[in-house]
Amino acid sequence: MASSSVPVYLRDENLTQETRDLLSSLPSEKGWLVSEMYQYEGSWHTQAVLQGVVNCQKHFEANDSDIILATLPKSGTTWLEALLFALIHRKKFPVSSGNHPLLATNPHLLVPYMEGDYCVSPDVDFSKLPSPRLMQTHLSYHSLPVSIKSSSCKIVYCCRNPKDVFVSLWHFGKKLAPQETADYPMEKALEAFCQGKFIGGPFWDHVLEYWYESRKNPNKVLFVTYEELKKQTGDMVKRMAEFLGCGFTAEEEVSEIVKLCSFESLSKLEVNKQGKLPNGIETSAFFRKGETGGWRDTLSESLADIIDRTTEEKFGGSGLKFSF
Ligand code: A3P
Repeated sequence: MASSSVPVYLRDENLTQETRDLLSSLPSEKGWLVSEMYQYEGSWHTQAVLQGVVNCQKHFEANDSDIILATLPKSGTTWLEALLFALIHRKKFPVSSGNHPLLATNPHLLVPYMEGDYCVSPDVDFSKLPSPRLMQTHLSYHSLPVSIKSSSCKIVYCCRNPKDVFVSLWHFGKKLAPQETADYPMEKALEAFCQGKFIGGPFWDHVLEYWYESRKNPNKVLFVTYEELKKQTGDMVKRMAEFLGCGFTAEEEVSEIVKLCSFESLSKLEVNKQGKLPNGIETSAFFRKGETGGWRDTLSESLADIIDRTTEEKFGGSGLKFSF
């Protein structure tokens, strides 16, 4: 991909010979937004992210106290980063203090993107993070570094209705790489999404795997949805705190966290309106509408039907349903 506006993990620079050898053995596809995607352990990645995934798998060592936020892109990662950061560090950074880190720093800079950080180098130092360490990943459960699964660290997984995920991704891509996405028909992008051929995809396998893991091991994996978070944010924040072993005693603190991390508050902050991440992405790109069912503005009924039918087919018998 030629455009310099494209962030590092969507570009294909700085690859080691080892990555190049691996790439040559993997199935590849021309993707929407990226010139080439590679299928590794069932998921589709850009070249740079693939290098990050392999480095992360080889070098990341989880601590028992770590907290891993797992999502697919556009499922509410930024929101969850803010909520989790605020709740686990509320003693160190009181929410009512008026100088909370979230007021001056984009959530992505407080919660590192694991395989993103490993894209450039195998030597990544997460030791400076406040304890407990909170990190974020888009990896499938089966691709997580072994130590995440073997240690006692906790995983919070958030998923979102696939129609809103697709639409959010569609708009994000247009903002990120306007030239590359300009003439790409939505029908074609949606078809690829439904076939699972999207960065991070397949959507359904990713969600189902964490869903089943959360049933099997509810003390290890907490499964939440963007939709239930929207509907009852306070209750969900309490549930996440209990899962993480830091339950609330004061109701006041919960509502302060909910307010600080709301779309309305975060999207109005200067740092999230004007800022840029080191990888070049404008922070405002992570705050668009923040609604459930917002897909209706973008998707025709017939395109929405295609996603619905795929969802029914893939989720059939799992007990998992989306209501929007
Ligand atoms: P929309 O594009 O539908 O508005 P991610 O953080 O995983 O990239 O997801 C981005 C989506 O989450 C975007 O959805 C964005 O607007 C929404 N979002 C960001 N911050 C939010 C918040 N504080 N509350 C609710 N939604 C939020």
